[in-house]
Amino acid sequence: MEDTISNTEKRPQFGNRLLENAEEVFKHNAWDNVQWDEEQEKAAKEKVQLNSQTTFTEDTLKDLDTNADKHWDSFYDIHQNRFFKDRHWLFTEFPELAPDNTSAPLRVYPNNDETVKSIKPEVGNQASNVKRYIFEIGCGVGNTIFPILQYSRDPNLFIYGCDFSTKAIEIIRENELYDTSRCCVFVLDATKSEWDVPFEKDSLDIIVLIFVLSAIDPTKMKLVIDNIYRYLKPGGLVVFRDYGRYDLAQLRFKKGRCISDNFYARGDKTKVYFFTQEEVSSLFKEAGFLEEQNLVDRRLQVNRGKMLTMYRVWIQGKYRKPL
Ligand SMILES: C[S@@+](CC[C@H](N)C(=O)[O-])C[C@H]1O[C@@H](n2cnc3c(N)ncnc32)[C@H](O)[C@@H]1O
Repeated sequence: MEDTISNTEKRPQFGNRLLENAEEVFKHNAWDNVQWDEEQEKAAKEKVQLNSQTTFTEDTLKDLDTNADKHWDSFYDIHQNRFFKDRHWLFTEFPELAPDNTSAPLRVYPNNDETVKSIKPEVGNQASNVKRYIFEIGCGVGNTIFPILQYSRDPNLFIYGCDFSTKAIEIIRENELYDTSRCCVFVLDATKSEWDVPFEKDSLDIIVLIFVLSAIDPTKMKLVIDNIYRYLKPGGLVVFRDYGRYDLAQLRFKKGRCISDNFYARGDKTKVYFFTQEEVSSLFKEAGFLEEQNLVDRRLQVNRGKMLTMYRVWIQGKYRKPL
């Protein structure tokens, strides 16, 4: 009977729309957990080999590195807050961000899938008077911060956000949802070895890394992860989602955009790296984190109007600082 079904069971599920019959591909806008066969993997590898030669001059490479923040400023000058869409998947993938929000579809994972290693998140048992601090690195124009503020009613939650683009921080602060009693954003280059931040070491509950580590030179990623470890409280969690190796965006790069292996500069001079699950795992484990989740999210997006198929690959992880 309808009213004997629990709330959890009634929630829509996400992650289980599997394409079982290839002929049905244009029936929906997206398919989950799409398996790649050897041929598709080989074709992707070949495309990457073709676009992997570095032909940038020393001067260009220097400009891409030293002016990285300015290139993101220009990006935000043009796109303001229209480019990155607010994400519906946020609370499905990371219920920890707003445990009091139960409106998001529940994530389900395919059975016996070796690409998914996950410990069920512990959510919803926050002690009522304890302050919770979330810090988002590379928060851009607030596409994660604002949904959390909107969906969480937790009066004890406070969100910090940083970005090295002054323009992005300006845009967030002008947003009518920017409420200084619930959040604070500031300019910080996360690759700096010493962070100038308005909170103490060992003080944060959750650090959010969503499509930001990929924008950072792989040689500087360790620095960032080490600082994250310092500022999280023991038992604190990192939630990570970013581009995966052979994502459509990587395969689309033309020759001449590669900076180093799997690291590219877009036409607007912003940069992007494409991770494997193993790389993400090593980065965090070597810094001392415990791995709670490390999965590859392969989605087939379909443009039914243009009859186009787009294979997306994202890596998602959850890493905990030991108690
Ligand atoms: C792809 S955007 C993602 C923005 C946001 N996380 C989102 O998902 O909408 C990458 C962001 O990282 C920021 N970023 C890149 N390198 C950074 C660094 N070293 N320190 C702080 N922010 C950085 C960029 O300015 C940009 O806002």
